[in-house]
Amino acid sequence: MFIQNELKSVDYISSHNINENFISFFNKPGPYYSSYPVLGEWNDFEDTSSYENALLDFFSSSPSKPLYLYLHIPYCAKLCYYCCCQISISNNRGIINNFVRCLIKEITMLEQFFLKNKIMPNIKEIHLGGGTPSHLTTDELNSLVSALKNFVNFEGLQEFSMEVDPRTVNFEHFDYYEAMGVDRISFGIQDFNDVVQEKINRVQPYELIERLMNEEVRDKFKGVNFDLLFGLPMQTRSSLRETIELTKQLSPERITLIKYLHIPNKVKHMKMIAESALPDKSDLPYMFVESTEALIEAGYSWVGLDHFAKQTDSLSIAKDNGRVYRNFGGESPGYTKDIISLGPSSTSAFGNYYFQATSNLLKYKNTIDAGNFAISRKYKLNSDDIIRRDCNFELQCNQKLDMTKIENDYKISFQKYFGAELELLKGFEEKGLVHINDKNILVTTTGRYFVRHICRVFDTFLDNTMQYEAHGT
Ligand SMILES: C[S@@+](CC[C@H](N)C(=O)[O-])C[C@H]1O[C@@H](n2cnc3c(N)ncnc32)[C@H](O)[C@@H]1O
Ligand code: SF4
Repeated sequence: MFIQNELKSVDYISSHNINENFISFFNKPGPYYSSYPVLGEWNDFEDTSSYENALLDFFSSSPSKPLYLYLHIPYCAKLCYYCCCQISISNNRGIINNFVRCLIKEITMLEQFFLKNKIMPNIKEIHLGGGTPSHLTTDELNSLVSALKNFVNFEGLQEFSMEVDPRTVNFEHFDYYEAMGVDRISFGIQDFNDVVQEKINRVQPYELIERLMNEEVRDKFKGVNFDLLFGLPMQTRSSLRETIELTKQLSPERITLIKYLHIPNKVKHMKMIAESALPDKSDLPYMFVESTEALIEAGYSWVGLDHFAKQTDSLSIAKDNGRVYRNFGGESPGYTKDIISLGPSSTSAFGNYYFQATSNLLKYKNTIDAGNFAISRKYKLNSDDIIRRDCNFELQCNQKLDMTKIENDYKISFQKYFGAELELLKGFEEKGLVHINDKNILVTTTGRYFVRHICRVFDTFLDNTMQYEAHGT
């Protein structure tokens, strides 16, 4: 057992209940399943025609399936030392503008592909991510949106979200984003403590964010999201508690609370963060558990792995209806399950396919200029992968796996197909992390803190010596 008395009436456990077992299991490395199989299992692949054939295959079987469109804008004004995203720091407007021209060419290539094959894509969500989309000028953003209008019905979108760096925007920018059709914005906050901010090279005082979160700005959007990190240099349990308190005061509709991934061997600029400045590993579960408790007590709903949403927010409503889904950006309200992505390093997931574009900016530009999609990785899921992805995402997103539904959807006997997995899950049941009955596998309140470990039971790719730690892998 991980804790003595599980609280049944609330959706969280208290930090008083954390013990040694909890700490070591919490810190155990393992994938954060944004895809199944995880990105590391996809194959190197550069054939653009295979990407187009996969799109044809998808649209011929699901012509009007709702789609999520992601655009990756890699440029940022200033380097944050903690950042593990696919970025390029530049304030050279010529370079950035040349990139935007290239991205528009890629959008146009996709439009031509749709026209040639008489496809009318049913795009229901758009996300501008990065990097920093708000680092583009309003003219650049406008030209991207104009190009998208050739095949996206903006009036019919269920979400149009955008990542915004609070240090570089003013009130006029928000007017403009609203006019473009953006209805959700996300601020990279990370932490409000000034010592932590210095250490991560991202100084943005609380007062700056408070000013941006005024009523006029809030009224323009359906919701604001805050990205927070735990495990940052100089962060302590008490400083994070303060950050959570300040976050509660500003009351964003959604909050994402992710564990800082420190991989200086892979991301060189992380060497600017001394290992000695990082909090002790044994503090990490306390940080997450205490934050969860404070946010739920304040009225937020805990959604999936690491998202929190106000009860009235669409993400929270999707949770109540068991419709939460997961994409590369984290948990989503489930309007769409298939993603087409554009831009360097971006990842697509549609039908039985996963694709990733090259992360090399020069290669991306040259390939697009030559009239080809800049594919660098691919994975085609077989029927077993698809069943396992379904099991994994249901457990992660909705904390419940309906075995009867899996049997009906895939015409299998769950007991026979997953006999070995059910045996392994008994170990999790003994620890109080899942409850299994005739129909369902239910993740318990304590199990929610370890759901990605539970999901590993359904992962046939994992070699236990492999160390996956990255959020987003
Ligand atoms: C790609 S950034 C885009 C946000 C936007 N550029 C900004 O800074 O405001 C999206 C989020 O990824 C998360 N992130 C970046 N580096 C990370 C790391 N090393 N470990 C975990 N999450 C990270 C941060 O929470 C960040 O806000
Ligand atoms: S956190 Fe945002 S602004 Fe900072 S380097 Fe990463 S993408 Fe750029």
